[in-house]
Amino acid sequence: MGDAMGYHESYSLSNQRDHEEIVVIGGELLGVMTNPMHDRARVAHHLSLLKSSLLTHFADEESEMKAHHYINFGQHKRSHVYIISILTEFSSAFAVGREKNVEDLWPHLENTLDNHLARYDAEFAAYLAGVGS
Ligand SMILES: [Fe+2]
Ligand SMILES: [Fe+2]
Repeated sequence: MGDAMGYHESYSLSNQRDHEEIVVIGGELLGVMTNPMHDRARVAHHLSLLKSSLLTHFADEESEMKAHHYINFGQHKRSHVYIISILTEFSSAFAVGREKNVEDLWPHLENTLDNHLARYDAEFAAYLAGVGS
């Protein structure tokens, strides 16, 4: 009632909130990881938090793409799978104490995520805006 916001606008807004939350969680992970006194349990906790947030977000986005017969669904999903694979490699390296690998992997994860938001998610948002409600 009294809410004039269309479906696509409201989806874009909640999707945008998810993206902001993911950036915050990533920033917190980086903060605990780069703290020289870092507590390994806290790093592991933030890593799993980032992974579960991404899995939930990707699943929501993929459902939305399927519902709208998004033409670039396959390509977009492959990018999601790739991001999760980097994060899994990252968690495995951390779990066995290969801190150097963790340091090397972080910029790759960050760049891939930034690129995904700027390219794939922006393309999907433009597609949704174009198909109307
Ligand atoms: Fe997204
Ligand atoms: Fe995405």
